[in-house]
Amino acid sequence: MLNVVQELTNLFQCSITSSFSSLKQKFPVSVTLNQNEKFGDYQCNSAMAITGLLKAQGVKMPPRQIAETIVKNLPESDFVESCNIAGPGFINIRLNMNFLKRALSDVLVNGVRTHHAKGCCKKVVIDYSSPNIAKEMHVGHLRSTIIGDCIANLFEFFGHEVKRLNHVGDWGTQFGMLIAHLTDMFPNYKEESPPISDLQAFYKQSKKRFDDDPEFKKRAYSCVVKLQSGDPDFIKAWNLICDVSRKEFQLIYNRLKIGNLIERGESFYHNLMPKVLDEIDKSGLIVVEDGRKLVFPEGSQFPLTVVKSDGGYTYDTSDLACIKQRIYDEKGGILIYVTDSGQQSHFKAIYSVAEKMGWYNKANTRVEHVGFGVVLGEDRELESFTQNHSYFSLSILMVKKFKTRSGDTVRLVDLLDEGMKRCRDKLMEKGRDKELSVEEFEAAQESVAYGCIKYADLSHNRINDYIFSFDKMLDDRGNTAAYLLYAYTRIKSIARVAKVSTEELRAAAKYSNSLPLDHPKELKLAKFLIRVPEVLERVCDDLTPHTLCDYLYELASVFTEFYDNCYCVEKDRTTGEIKKIHTHRLLLCDATVAVMDQCFKILGITPVHKM
Ligand code: ARG
Repeated sequence: MLNVVQELTNLFQCSITSSFSSLKQKFPVSVTLNQNEKFGDYQCNSAMAITGLLKAQGVKMPPRQIAETIVKNLPESDFVESCNIAGPGFINIRLNMNFLKRALSDVLVNGVRTHHAKGCCKKVVIDYSSPNIAKEMHVGHLRSTIIGDCIANLFEFFGHEVKRLNHVGDWGTQFGMLIAHLTDMFPNYKEESPPISDLQAFYKQSKKRFDDDPEFKKRAYSCVVKLQSGDPDFIKAWNLICDVSRKEFQLIYNRLKIGNLIERGESFYHNLMPKVLDEIDKSGLIVVEDGRKLVFPEGSQFPLTVVKSDGGYTYDTSDLACIKQRIYDEKGGILIYVTDSGQQSHFKAIYSVAEKMGWYNKANTRVEHVGFGVVLGEDRELESFTQNHSYFSLSILMVKKFKTRSGDTVRLVDLLDEGMKRCRDKLMEKGRDKELSVEEFEAAQESVAYGCIKYADLSHNRINDYIFSFDKMLDDRGNTAAYLLYAYTRIKSIARVAKVSTEELRAAAKYSNSLPLDHPKELKLAKFLIRVPEVLERVCDDLTPHTLCDYLYELASVFTEFYDNCYCVEKDRTTGEIKKIHTHRLLLCDATVAVMDQCFKILGITPVHKM
């Protein structure tokens, strides 16, 4: 499938450069969807801007004449039917019908495919989820997991090789105190696994001892030294602690079907740090201040602390070693980091130092921090709690509603349970339990519950804070997964009602080049469907999943418009007997399903056939 906007842009670019060679630099051409479908499908409004540019060169030419010249010199193409000029110089573009039909047929026969992203596939290394060992995985990590997974799916869709890395916080001074506490509480830990079912409580106890008992503190520090020097007993204790956390994280990943996420925590970079520091030091970037070693990134107010006064490394140090490893060892051509926006300046500083060190340049490596806002409670009141990160303190705002009576933040598993429960109630309210088999009901419940939690997150511009509301996300009348999943099952059921099998439709699709698109609503739907590559490419450029959600939501309403106006299956009013089947319309339904399927897949949502 072609990205029509991109192809049109290239075409107009060509015409403009050949028509107005005095505009030396490549002139940015803008082709957009036509605001008014009566006039055309797309439009190009560059003539006005060119008038200004020519005027600056002393050439006087009215925009209408410019538009005429552009149209006259437009290269041949099979996707433009005609262009007409309106007003002072707006160029309205109509798509060629045969092209439209071919594109549609391509969706039917091959599913949604696009050309590889801008012709070059790269290795993508994406860092997301990344919770911290011995600490609760919180809503911020949930956002990172959902957004990161969607972006990873998107890159995979474009044919890139994608490595998904879970950069867990598994290293640093607090592990000394955890291990010291472990050896006291479960001296037998080497023989049998200690039952640290509540690692959070365990963490709190050890922290209290660390703060109150100087003797313990000393021991904790010596544990860090032993751990970092690779003492097998300490490594074993550390592994035990990591395992408990790992199992808890896995519960969340399993439920949300987050696959292929490889754990590669901060500890992985431990041995790489001294060399990287040495290299940075040799290039003269290190400044020593009060016993600390600092690096001042260009354009940043704050320095990175690469060695603390006690000689220890920091979050900054590990991320410097990490970025180098991702470029040199992983051979990543696209590096993506998904965390809350609070860490933006940290990553900006890391990228700036990495560039300065010559580890990459923007021209051939795309390095991006994908930040997101905080999650708010429905009352918009923020409950803030300080998460003691391995190396620095980070304030994360939690959903107030999801606090337990004791004031602790609710565990994510409980949040997912709550979603499942509410979804079950909703489906029961609608009497779905009476119509679906037990398996179908459970599949629908899971699909909607997790789909809604993911979609609520993805459909909001990630930069903004977002209000977590089960009522809103499970409402089946708005821009929600519940609405879209219902719409999907309805479209799926049309072919079922017509008793036309997938095989028959597939066979018909082979001849769909000649699909009649006579009704204006058929045409509108077809044109909307073939816009999917353009939308996906935009999401890939801006890394904004909400754009894809907006498209999907609009698709559902364009489909409804079509379905309300065009019978797919005509039945006898009295007998209910099928009188006529409009196969080409069933094919339009099928193409809609194909596009929705692909969008759901990228968003990480699993649709069901019956709900
Ligand atoms: N563990 C960190 C946190 O909870 C996120 C790590 C993100 N990735 C990285 N390479 N620093 O905030």
